[in-house]
Amino acid sequence: MRIVDTILDKRDGRELSAAVINELIASYTAGEIPDYQMAAFLMAVYFRGMTAAETAALTLAMAKSGATVDLGAVPGVKVDKHSTGGVADTTTLVLAPLVAAAGVPVAKMSGRGLGFTGGTIDKLEAIPGFRTALSSEEFLANLGRIGVAITGQTADIAPADGKLYALRDVTATIESIPLIASSVMSKKIAAGADKILLDVKTGSGAFMKTPEQAFKLAETMVGIGTLVGRETMAVISTMHEPLGLAVGNSLEVAEAIDILSGAGGAPELREICLTLGAHMLVMAGKAADFAAGYRKLQELLDGKEALAKFAALVAAQGGNPDVVANRALLPLAAIRHIVASPAGGFVQSVDAARIGYAAMILGAGREYKGQQIDLGAGLVMHCRLGDKLALGQPLATLYTADPTKIPSAEAAISAAITIGPDKAARPELILGTVTAAGINMV
Ligand code: URA
Ligand code: CA
Repeated sequence: MRIVDTILDKRDGRELSAAVINELIASYTAGEIPDYQMAAFLMAVYFRGMTAAETAALTLAMAKSGATVDLGAVPGVKVDKHSTGGVADTTTLVLAPLVAAAGVPVAKMSGRGLGFTGGTIDKLEAIPGFRTALSSEEFLANLGRIGVAITGQTADIAPADGKLYALRDVTATIESIPLIASSVMSKKIAAGADKILLDVKTGSGAFMKTPEQAFKLAETMVGIGTLVGRETMAVISTMHEPLGLAVGNSLEVAEAIDILSGAGGAPELREICLTLGAHMLVMAGKAADFAAGYRKLQELLDGKEALAKFAALVAAQGGNPDVVANRALLPLAAIRHIVASPAGGFVQSVDAARIGYAAMILGAGREYKGQQIDLGAGLVMHCRLGDKLALGQPLATLYTADPTKIPSAEAAISAAITIGPDKAARPELILGTVTAAGINMV
């Protein structure tokens, strides 16, 4: 096979065989195909798309490009949750201990943030002492003992995705349904969960800008999961503003603790955690139906069992569990700046990607892979879509160690928020679900 012929076939819209896709991925992972040819191939996929058979073949080739995890030793049905990524998506920090408190084992491999999206591993590292690189023995031992463990995705899980994702990030080829679907599903298949719950985002803070695209992506991923015998379900939710109020690593940990302790945080963040968690309980056989699962999780939040599980998780991974009662133990950047509303009126729209970009400028995120970040930097939003604002009212508080970053972050916040005279409606948070049986709109 000559790679140039594969690029040509894709460019001209001919379907690729599984054998050709396998060889492409194996050769690229082995370093035998240069990035410039792979970049051309990815752009051809971006414009031409892939058939269901091609997408499935690509996913399986990526899943078997490295090691696969065997969670067979962990009792119970393991349900893995994966979000397609967003801004202030603090879900895992709340959901993992919450679902574990209900008796569903949570064996989670998470990633770091890139661009305007954050990553769970960076957030957890904001907790003093917390170790995110667990050996597989420690990972399994913690799972057995407290029912939850979160570790960084090791380089040997779906290495083809690691290379491809980094290349896509710098070649404007992220927003492709077959490429996102194969990226997400290859990792989930390799990571060993029995069942997969996908949190597919749509809106200004997500890769899929429209609900139609998000449902199509969800159907593609559910189809792949079904094909490989892993029950897969997707929840489609909107991200027309940052999901939580806090954007930035330690700030998001603090908001997660607020939600777990019933002390505040964005209601939408709480709602999405209860919704995803209820589906996970049903999939794991721990709740008879969605409503029963939802009620059980509300009780675990109200009764502080989920908070206690979070503290146990922190302690088990070397972190200081006192952060649960004392937020001052978390790092916080020294310089504070309040962005004031330039006008009175209603919040018409919030560009979540721009808010994520502002947090990145302040030091909370990376512009390139491997960049050092400031775990105490970021911002907290003080307004939500549809809110009424007075002139000069705070829109957000910025936290940074570098005062030279404030003007550009402030400009990004101002550009992200549109204020107008008419009351704007809040969009529904949850649009529907996709299972092997089809789409269900809520
Ligand atoms: N999340 C992933 O894991 N991969 C993508 O391609 C996009 C979001
Ligand atoms: Ca319905």
